[in-house]
Formats: sequence, C-alpha cells, structure tokens
Amino acid sequence: MVPRADRPGQDRGEEKRRGERCRHARPRAAGEVGEYEGEQGRRDSQRRPGDENDGQKPPFEPECAQDRPAEEAAADQPEGGVNRRAPIQGGSHRRRFASRAKSRLRCASAYHPPVRIDSSTRAIVTGASRGIGRATAKALAARGARVGLLARGREGLEALAAELPPSAAGDHVVLPADIGRRREVERAVERFTKRAGGLDLLVANAGIAHYGRFIDVDLVRAEEMVRVNVLGTLHSVRAGLDPMLAARRGHIVVISSGAGFRAFPHAAVYGGTKAFDRGFAEALRHELAGSGVGVTTVFPGEIETDLHAHERDLLPDWRKNEAELAPEAVAERIVAAVEADSRRVNVPRIVGLLGLDGVAPRFVDLLLARIRGRGAAARLD
Ligand SMILES: NC(=O)c1ccc[n+]([C@@H]2O[C@H](COP(=O)([O-])OP(=O)(O)OC[C@H]3O[C@@H](n4cnc5c(N)ncnc54)[C@H](OP(=O)(O)O)[C@@H]3O)[C@@H](O)[C@H]2O)c1
Repeated sequence: MVPRADRPGQDRGEEKRRGERCRHARPRAAGEVGEYEGEQGRRDSQRRPGDENDGQKPPFEPECAQDRPAEEAAADQPEGGVNRRAPIQGGSHRRRFASRAKSRLRCASAYHPPVRIDSSTRAIVTGASRGIGRATAKALAARGARVGLLARGREGLEALAAELPPSAAGDHVVLPADIGRRREVERAVERFTKRAGGLDLLVANAGIAHYGRFIDVDLVRAEEMVRVNVLGTLHSVRAGLDPMLAARRGHIVVISSGAGFRAFPHAAVYGGTKAFDRGFAEALRHELAGSGVGVTTVFPGEIETDLHAHERDLLPDWRKNEAELAPEAVAERIVAAVEADSRRVNVPRIVGLLGLDGVAPRFVDLLLARIRGRGAAARLD
C-alpha cells in the first residue's frame, strides 16, 4: 500500500503548505473577469507581477474550502454551531467520501465565509413593524446589529426603533416606504447604506394575504398581493444587491411560505405569490455563486401574527389552527440560517414535507386531507 502522502494529488495539506491552490478551483485565463466583478474586478484580474497586491488572490478568485487551514475555518463558525466548512479529519470511509464530495461542491460554488450577526452587521428588514419582521429586527438588534426598519407606517417603526437595544455601530434607521413602489424602496435602501456605510443583510419579509375563493376575490386585492409579495420582494432584493455586490459580501433572506411549496384552496393568489418568492430566491442563490452574496429562503407554516387579522372570519377550515408558532421562533431560525448560509429554513420543520409536492403531489394531498381535512385537498385523484 502506497502511503497516503506519497500518492500523487492525494495530500492536500502538502499543497496547502506549499501555497498551491486546490485542484478543484478552475484556473482563470489571462485577463478573465468574473461575472460579478465589474470595474474593480477587471482591474484586479489585470494585475501584473510587481503591482500592489501582487501574489494575493484577487477578491473574486474562487477559493476552495480545502485551501483554508482548519483553525481558520473553525473560527468562521458561530459558537455552539456545527462547523460545516472545516475539513473532516479521520472517520470512516463513508464520512471521508461524503466530506470530499461536499468540498468539491463547495469548490464549484466558490467559498465565502457566511455573514455573522454582531455589532458590525448592517441589516435591513422589510415589514419590520409587526409580526415576523418585528421579531427578526429585535433578534438582530439583540446580537448588536444596526437595523434599518422598513414598512409603511412611520409611527410603528419609530416606536420599535426606540425599543431596540442600541447598536455600537450607530442608531437604528426608520425607513418608511411602500415596498411595492420601486423608487421608494431604492431611496430607502440607499439612505440606510449611506448612513451605515454598507449593507450586510437584507430580510425581504413584508407581505400581505387575502383569502377567499378566487372567483370571489376582489381583483384589486389580488393585484395588491402581487404588487407587495412579488414586486415588493423583487424591488427590495434588487436594491439591496447593489451595495452587497460592490462589497462582494452579504446575505439575502426571502420569506416565502409553506404555501410556496404547495398552494392551498382559498389562497390561490397568495400561494402563487409565495411560489414566486421561492423560485426567485432559489435561482438567485445559484446565480450569485462566487459573488460573496448568499441567499436563504424561509418557509414559515402558521405563525401567530396579524397577517390575517383583517379576515379571521374568511379563513378556510384548514387554516383555523390553534397551534400557531410565535414569530420569535422564525426570527431565531433566520439568524442561525444567515450565519450558516443555509439554503432554506422550514418553520416548523414539518413544513418541509410540503416540498414533496414537486415529486409526489398525490401523497401530499392525502397527507393534507388527513391532517387538515378535505378542505385542504378536495380532489384526491
Ligand atoms: N403569519 C403567517 O402565518 C405566515 C406564514 C407564512 C408566511 N408568512 C409571510 O411572512 C411575512 C411576514 O408576515 P407576518 O405574518 O409577519 O405579517 P404581519 O404581521 O401582517 O406583518 C406584515 C408587515 O409587512 C408590512 N407591509 C405590508 N405591506 C407593505 C407594503 N406595501 N410596504 C411595506 N411594508 C408593508 C407591514 O407594515 P405596514 O402595514 O406598516 O406597511 C408589516 O410590518 C409575509 O411575507 C408573509 O407572507 C407569514
């Protein structure tokens, strides 16, 4: 048996010590510019020997997780969290195989340490005045972050800003804006970014719901749902991406819904808007690989907020659930997901079962009919 270190290409540690790059990272052609680099990147990749910063990786050079010493990778992890970036040492063949496969995948998408939530974090939360947005703003501020609070009602936001623990990075910023109006959102994000000197996290949470049979739904209300839940998400994410891409670092959280996996009767338009949020965020996560910006999609189930306060009497039977979760539970999972750069968060976890709808719709219908009654799945064919 040839000792591991003598096998060609096997001892990644040796290559690391020699300062070579991992074989998984694709070498760049001379003058090649990364997709998100823009002018700065163009300048970086045109560096000549002897230039300032010569010998260092350009900021957008894909970096392999295996290139990083284990201690450095461990330092990127939140306290008490699982270090998903650190190379696994020893263990069974299966674990080693899984670890190699994972690190190859990481190499393909280029490594960037996740955003941490602390006193250096600058975050905007949309729909911050109530419910999940309010709980998220509080959770972020409790960790020291400076928060931009966006919603339509100024008074609610000012009251919340006064309630939040102060951030060492500066005052929390009240950003009254209608998420459905692009210019208002752009101005709000720009204002916060200028005051805070950048943007690390954007939580696209603002949303509305109107339930009822589609044939009975007032089309003005249906359009309003599309404007807020679809265009609002699009406007806020687009505005937030500019400063993040310029800094090559950041994280976007999009709040979809369990209804984004499997839409429910009497909520056809709402479900459609949440499916948009899911598809949009999932594509974006891949599209932004290597840009330094991560994307997490959140799928809440039934949460105790005022989302349906205006229509409690219109809620269909399957939605009349006594066991709603507190919005703080969602906020807690959002903070953890940002720090782990998670792809998706299901709150409660059982909501993930609705994701099976893509491959086994009949199974999901049967399950829903059993748990929530035939109102949730009237046709079982
Ligand atoms: N609660 C649930 O069971 C549940 C389940 C799944 C998904 N979700 C999703 O979670 C998100 C938050 O919902 P929630 O339950 O926390 O609702 P909520 O308590 O009603 O809060 C909604 C927030 O969005 C803001 N908002 C509404 N329209 C806006 C607009 N045009 N421009 C700017 N801000 C606007 C509201 O503030 P203003 O009215 O002051 O503007 C409020 O701060 C939504 O996207 C919702 O679809 C909720």
